[in-house]
Order: sequence, then structure tokens, then C-alpha cells
Amino acid sequence: MSDAGILKNKVAVVVGSTSGIGEAIAREFSAQGAKVVLSGRRTERGQSIVDEILAAGGEAVFIRTDVSVPVDIERLIASSVSRFGALDILVNNAALELTRPLAECTAEDFDRVINTNLRSYFLASVHALKIMTQQRRGVILNVNSVTAEHPAPGIGLYSMAKGAVRQLTRTLALENAHLGIRANEINPGLIQTEIFNDPTAAKVAEFGVSQTPIGRIGTPEECAKAALYLVSDDAGFTTGASLVIDGGLTI
Ligand SMILES: NC(=O)c1ccc[n+]([C@@H]2O[C@H](COP(=O)([O-])OP(=O)(O)OC[C@H]3O[C@@H](n4cnc5c(N)ncnc54)[C@H](OP(=O)(O)O)[C@@H]3O)[C@@H](O)[C@H]2O)c1
Repeated sequence: MSDAGILKNKVAVVVGSTSGIGEAIAREFSAQGAKVVLSGRRTERGQSIVDEILAAGGEAVFIRTDVSVPVDIERLIASSVSRFGALDILVNNAALELTRPLAECTAEDFDRVINTNLRSYFLASVHALKIMTQQRRGVILNVNSVTAEHPAPGIGLYSMAKGAVRQLTRTLALENAHLGIRANEINPGLIQTEIFNDPTAAKVAEFGVSQTPIGRIGTPEECAKAALYLVSDDAGFTTGASLVIDGGLTI
């Protein structure tokens, strides 16, 4: 952990940080001096990342959370504040990708995707805002997707949730700016993570890379650097913004 990190002494909760972009964000924030709360359903994965952060001299804790369960989200925020005494940064990142044409989706599919990918962002933000409003400071960073604006065939429910996350980000920014609270989002294109473990999703990703002007898939670390900027004081005049990280895919 760097003593001179730009997030020194900030408390950050990263919802969904046991792999991929969330893990990279948690590691980057810790490297920049933040006290980090990691979360997700995979306790062993989360705890081993925490152990590595602690070994490197950082401060971190893992709190097992299933974001499809509202009370888990409430407990995550409350436990984070009891552990570290404040909440400066909330990163909403947990999501699942269901690869299925809308014509084949059911009400159960809708609930599963929307509850995990949208309701969780909303609920975590609401609980965080109660603390941030008292503090008169805070930053919310939503990990969104280029599909918020450019839906892709075969992932309709995912794209619908991401489109709504965009309006969540912007509404959070509008309603809370006067309280010293900012809200922004990053919009990754194709990033190398476990979200492409599913063979159908992997095929879609392969095609996407062929359409990406920079000619490669992105890395979770590249997303983490963008997230770092948006939550830092360097972005103090930036709220309601969407930062695209897609190698030119959506130009
Ligand atoms: N990879 C890409 O190309 C790409 C592109 C655009 C946007 N994104 C967005 O980036 C974010 C992270 O995705 P990723 O690519 O890094 O995928 P990932 O490696 O699969 O990470 C997903 C994270 O979300 C957590 N999560 C999922 N469901 C959860 C639940 N019910 N409760 C708690 N945690 C849950 C997972 O933790 P557990 O499994 O431990 O629960 C994991 O930590 C998502 O919002 C995704 O939409 C990714």
C-alpha cells in the first residue's frame, strides 16, 4: 500500500469484487491507500484477495454478500461502516450475463437478471446515501457497460438492466450534487474476465474483438484505472458522467 496514494484513508466498498473488474478495482483502490471492503458470494476467493492485500500492507475485509438478497446489501453497507467508521466510495459492480434471446426469456429470467444487475445497484446506493448524506461527502461509481447505449442481440435482459443503470447514475448525480455526493459510471466494452466463461458468451466476445478498432480485448486493470480517476478528488467537478472503455468499439 502506498502512503502517498490518492485514496489515502478513504473507505471504499466494492460490491462484487471476487473476480474480474471488481477485483481489479479493489486492488487498485487499496494500492492507492483506501481501506477496502470486498464482497461477493465466493468466500474463499474473496478472502484470498483480502489476504494478499493485507500481506502487501493494505487494509481490507471480505463480507459475504448475495446481491439478489436485499437484506444482504443492507448488512454489507452497515457492516462496512461499523468496521471502518465511514463510507467514502461505493462501487456497484456485481452482475450476471444471461445469453438468451428475449423471445425465450421467462419472468424468472427477468427477475434474476434485473434483481442482480439493477436492483442491487439501486439498493446499495440507497443505503450508502444515508451515510454519505450525513457525512456530506461520497462518491458512487457504477460499473455499467457499452450495452447501456448499444444493446447487443442475445443479451436483451442484461442490456435492459444496463440501460436503467445509466438513468440511475444520472439521477443519483442530479439528486445528490448539493450534498457533496457525486455519481459516475464506467462503460466497458469487451474486457477479459470470467463473464465470458460461458461458451456462447465467449463466441459473442470473439466477434466483438474483431469489431474493436484497437484490435484486442481490454483488461480489468484498464477499467480500474478509469474507476480510480472518477472516484478521486481529481474528478471533483465530474458527476453524472459515463466513461467508455471499449477500444473504439462503439465509435
Ligand atoms: N467483462 C466485460 O466484457 C464487461 C463488459 C461490460 C461491462 N461489464 C460489467 O463489469 C462488471 C463486472 O463483470 P466482470 O466482467 O468482471 O465479471 P465477473 O468476473 O464474472 O465478476 C462478477 C462479479 O460480480 C459478483 N456477483 C455476481 N452475482 C452476484 C451476486 N448474486 N451476489 C454477489 N456478487 C455477485 C461476482 O462475485 P461472486 O461470483 O463471488 O458472487 C463477481 O465478483 C459487471 O457489472 C459487468 O456487467 C463487463
